[in-house]
Amino acid sequence: MIPRITIAQAGAHVGESVQIAGWLYNLRRSGKIAFPILRDGYGLMQCVAVKSALPEALFETIRNLTQESSIIVTGKIRADERAPGGFEMDVENLEVVQRVPESDPYPITPKDHGIEFLLEHRHLAIRGLRAHAILGIRHEVIKAVRDYFDSHGFTLVDTPIFTPAACEGTTTLFEVNYYEDNKAYLTQSGQLYNEATAMAFGKVYCFGPTFRAELSKTRRHLREFWMVEPEMAYATLEDVKRVAEEMLVFIVGRVLENRREELKRLERDVTRLEAIQAPFDRMTYDEAIEILHQKGSPIQWGDDFGGTDETLLTQDRQRPIMVDRFPASFKAFYFEPAADRPDVVLGVDVLAPEGYGEIVGGGQRIHDLDLLLQRIEQHKLPKEAFQWYIDLRKYGSVPHGGFGMGIERAVAWICGIEHIRETIAFPRTLYRWAP
Ligand code: 4AD
Ligand code: MG
Repeated sequence: MIPRITIAQAGAHVGESVQIAGWLYNLRRSGKIAFPILRDGYGLMQCVAVKSALPEALFETIRNLTQESSIIVTGKIRADERAPGGFEMDVENLEVVQRVPESDPYPITPKDHGIEFLLEHRHLAIRGLRAHAILGIRHEVIKAVRDYFDSHGFTLVDTPIFTPAACEGTTTLFEVNYYEDNKAYLTQSGQLYNEATAMAFGKVYCFGPTFRAELSKTRRHLREFWMVEPEMAYATLEDVKRVAEEMLVFIVGRVLENRREELKRLERDVTRLEAIQAPFDRMTYDEAIEILHQKGSPIQWGDDFGGTDETLLTQDRQRPIMVDRFPASFKAFYFEPAADRPDVVLGVDVLAPEGYGEIVGGGQRIHDLDLLLQRIEQHKLPKEAFQWYIDLRKYGSVPHGGFGMGIERAVAWICGIEHIRETIAFPRTLYRWAP
């Protein structure tokens, strides 16, 4: 029996005949020899098919293979320093599972395609080396996030997608017809439910898709994105900052440990990632405004940061910055005000360096019943829909807090890529919700 292996396992089979199932990535050939490059999802393998060593019909089949045809190759693994993965395979047999016809060839050729074309063909473009590297790093980031929380006393309690009310403001809600004439909204954040489950478990996190009817077309905005959100009972803003910092250092460390190949393929400057160590720089919103004024920004106290402000704040820094104590005026209803200054709230944003901007947002929540009722009224939110949330302030209310990290923003920063649409297999942006 010839063993079936993946390209990643080739090193353990040097000198043996093995079988690898995959797709034809590329083909170079001459009259007497052909070099099909095999792709199997784990790597690339250059195969060598020599005419004199193979039955004539088989050699002709190999010579005439088309890009992305599915094939199963049998052959002997040979170590070769010059080969891309360090190994080559001498072809002994090759089975064509499906041949892509010349009349309708694979649309993504090795030449450069425009981004619009690649997004339209995203279902195929994800087979490319660049997408493979980015999505592999995404997997690593998600695994690291889960490992971090699982090993620090957090329980995963996932929160609903259909919700009766807004968490992050009503302007970006997606409305759905839930039942007869009853409306529901796609969740913007699991936070409010996390606040309930934290009172049951102490420390929790949820991790799932979130939805925002964003009208912005920036490189940082998707309409559907994945967010991990921890929440902790008996916690303050300082606890939230410490956990966010520790988690980010852990994630970057894991990617450096396990995804060097992918980072290299993306030409990521890894010294920028190696510099991500605690402590991050900390500043208040007031201090950030002062720095922005020195750098010539027209921002006024009371304005939220724009993308340019975030870039100005982070561009000359090695480590992320944690900005806290924001004006209450532009923050969500649930933030706890500072005890010494009621016009600012105990929120924190973590801004990634190199101009990537906000990757984490969170803070301490209001735990006082009367203050919460007041805020719900000021923000003109429907009190009935929030009754269950208000209950949490009646039955054993405690100081608590947490944050949310958008996975795509974190991955874009770690990969050092321009636009977050490449960090998710099938991005949803303002004008694109297919394929
Ligand atoms: O700052 P945001 O809006 O905070 C919340 O939703 C809180 N309820 C989280 C919490 O405290 N549990 O969003 C949190 C993060 C942002 O820092 C950003 O990384 C990401 O979610 N994010 C987006 N990512 C991609 N596209 C968008 N449109 C995003 N909006 C927010
Ligand atoms: Mg935010």
